[in-house]
Amino acid sequence: MADAVGLIGGGVIGGGWAARFAIGGHDVRLYDPAPDAAATVVAALENARRAHRRLTLAPLPAEGSVTVVGTLEEAVEGVAFVQESAPEREELKRSLLAAASRAAGPDVIVASSTSGLLPTRLQADMEHPERFAVGHPFNPVYLLPLVEVCGGERTAPATLERAAERYRRLGMRPLVVRREVDAFVADRLLEALWREALWLVADDVATVEEVDDAIRFGAGLRWACMGPFLTYRIAGGPAGMRHFLEQFGPALALPWTRLTEVPELTDELLDKIVAQSDAQAGGRSLHELERLRDDCLVSIIQGLRVHDFGAGAVLAGYERALFAAAPAAAAAADDEAPLRLHSAVVAPEWIDYNGHAHESRYLQVFGDATDALLRHVGLDLDAGSSYFTVETHLSHLGQARAEERLHVTTQLLGHDEKRLHVFHALHRTDDEALLATAEQMLLHVNTRADRVAPAPPELLERIARIARSHAALPRPERAGRAIGSAR
Ligand SMILES: NC(=O)c1ccc[n+]([C@@H]2O[C@H](COP(=O)([O-])OP(=O)(O)OC[C@H]3O[C@@H](n4cnc5c(N)ncnc54)[C@H](O)[C@@H]3O)[C@@H](O)[C@H]2O)c1
Repeated sequence: MADAVGLIGGGVIGGGWAARFAIGGHDVRLYDPAPDAAATVVAALENARRAHRRLTLAPLPAEGSVTVVGTLEEAVEGVAFVQESAPEREELKRSLLAAASRAAGPDVIVASSTSGLLPTRLQADMEHPERFAVGHPFNPVYLLPLVEVCGGERTAPATLERAAERYRRLGMRPLVVRREVDAFVADRLLEALWREALWLVADDVATVEEVDDAIRFGAGLRWACMGPFLTYRIAGGPAGMRHFLEQFGPALALPWTRLTEVPELTDELLDKIVAQSDAQAGGRSLHELERLRDDCLVSIIQGLRVHDFGAGAVLAGYERALFAAAPAAAAAADDEAPLRLHSAVVAPEWIDYNGHAHESRYLQVFGDATDALLRHVGLDLDAGSSYFTVETHLSHLGQARAEERLHVTTQLLGHDEKRLHVFHALHRTDDEALLATAEQMLLHVNTRADRVAPAPPELLERIARIARSHAALPRPERAGRAIGSAR
């Protein structure tokens, strides 16, 4: 079990931190005076578990506990890390951070989720202010990897490194801000966009939905993998960034945007935005919108993982670390009957026009399950030993939909020195529903001689051991089936 963390504030962001830390294996103690704090945290944790079930098959550590406590001191005494996510009011944050610094150990890092307050001011009343850093996350904290790390004048450089390392171990992407500045990097960019969005609605150039569409059908898709600089380098064509700057530089002087002018949030403008926003939501609840957002984010991050790029590269790195930390979890015992060696998540690109996984994907999952079996029995491809599938009979019994978790159970029906006869059953993990079965006959091939040959004795010994424990299993109902004739 990883060390315990103390959280101050359990709203949108504090709840997200509680979920990210608990899923990362940390016990969490959280202080928030609101009577509904525990409910907020439970809701965030449920969303986060659901998202992570879809996001990764890597062996996450055992989930930590989350305890809502009655005082700030109870939350931070004896913990290894403190994260404050109270309302964005400087005097409140200063007093909470000072109290936390008195109650937590002297070298425990105390971080603040502030979106824009200056760290030098936030650390002013703290004991040992050198261990203070801003750790500015993005909503939903349990899914988005970015966290901006920024120190104040009295922050020790080692604090920034330690905080960044802790966030990295949670699967996040810390971005250390080089110089203390209001609102750091991301929110300065977001605020420029947000101010302009409000003007476009206030001036009746676009509705709230049209502004959102202008982002999500265009630049927003690009932003998941490329920020403005890489985007414009490509837009500059073969001559790259220099050409882009020379071509579009003069346009920057045109008064396209309202810069720091702020639209007055009159009652009229507020009513207009709220009414348009309600219409845009189309009756969907906050809960539904959160899950829609999370599902889309999971799909995007998984898509990026295929390219080992952007947030997908962060996920891939996190998964490698999780697998390295839990090598034993992958090994199943020989006497497990049937064997459960392979799991998968239905990737969005597997889905066909009927809304469920394309039939070829079932064979892919069963093929992967066979590979897992062969790895399990110790097949050594480098020694020229392999099994080739010579026949498969597949039965489709249910539908697998996007991002559902699947697992395959495998029963050995028979074997001799050259043949391996297996029966796989594909289950939906959440409710154990049987979705498909596949019966396969495999032949052992000596790949150096390129012909069927007896398997090496050590392989046969392992297979025989599994066969003995599977002998007691009933023969699957669908084993030995052929396609029923229509006549
Ligand atoms: N919402 C975002 O998108 C976002 C993103 C990044 C960072 N932040 C920052 O995170 C912080 C929290 O924002 P939020 O959106 O979660 O706000 P929120 O209003 O959802 O949550 C704030 C929580 O703090 C609690 N609180 C109030 N007084 C407290 C006290 N004395 N001690 C402990 N807890 C107290 C409240 O009960 C509430 O649950 C802010 O600094 C904000 O700038 C917000």
